[in-house]
Amino acid sequence: MSAPRDRLIVALDVPNVDEAKALIDRLGDSVGVYKIGLELLFSGGFALAQDLARQGHSVFVDAKLLDIEATVERATAVIAASGAAFLTVHALDRKTIAAAVRGRGDSRLKLLGVTVLTNLSRADLAEHGIDEAPLAVVQRRAMMARDGGFDGVIASGQEARALRERLRQILIVTPGIRPAGADTQDQARVMTPSAAIKAGADYLVVGRPITRAADPRAAAEAIVAEIAASLPK
Ligand code: C5P
Repeated sequence: MSAPRDRLIVALDVPNVDEAKALIDRLGDSVGVYKIGLELLFSGGFALAQDLARQGHSVFVDAKLLDIEATVERATAVIAASGAAFLTVHALDRKTIAAAVRGRGDSRLKLLGVTVLTNLSRADLAEHGIDEAPLAVVQRRAMMARDGGFDGVIASGQEARALRERLRQILIVTPGIRPAGADTQDQARVMTPSAAIKAGADYLVVGRPITRAADPRAAAEAIVAEIAASLPK
């Protein structure tokens, strides 16, 4: 598959485009993919995504789409036309999945399903009318996403291992990564880069351990080195 560096996705969780650009300047070519989430998307981040894609960067639009089919299809088509490499869509039902796949058309956009947000417990799922353990729901939705034509799913490190045992061919993108000894901040269940790769993750999403480091580039390079050392030879 891709080089170790291409497996590192940096979350540009900053409030505006100027801060994002300053961070990108510092990171240079030390990371493979830049992730733009809701905060930055609504403060000029989509234009930044288009610029970065034009400059040849790999961009992850973390829009977590969910709406009626026509809207999901058309929004996906606009994002695909931006040159983005990855887009998140809630993988809740076959209609939504099919709409995103139609919207992608023959572009190179990779569709990633959000199965169960990791902040949701079994009690929260009960509020959705679901009486199942989160992992069972994650597995069912991941299979539905794969069968519907998605490329991968977002999954915590713990879920990655269980998913990888059942779904060999799907891309697994894992957030909640903390190098050994790093501050966990608000992440409840974290994994080191090495443990996540060994659990079956293809890509790691890393935010604050890089973006808030005194030397973001050095922090990114250390994670890439850890990824490289953990990949099967
Ligand atoms: O700073 P940190 O490394 O915790 O950032 C992780 C990134 O991954 C954030 O952009 C966050 O929104 C995203 N994410 C997550 N947990 C999920 C899904 C996405 O932390 N389950």
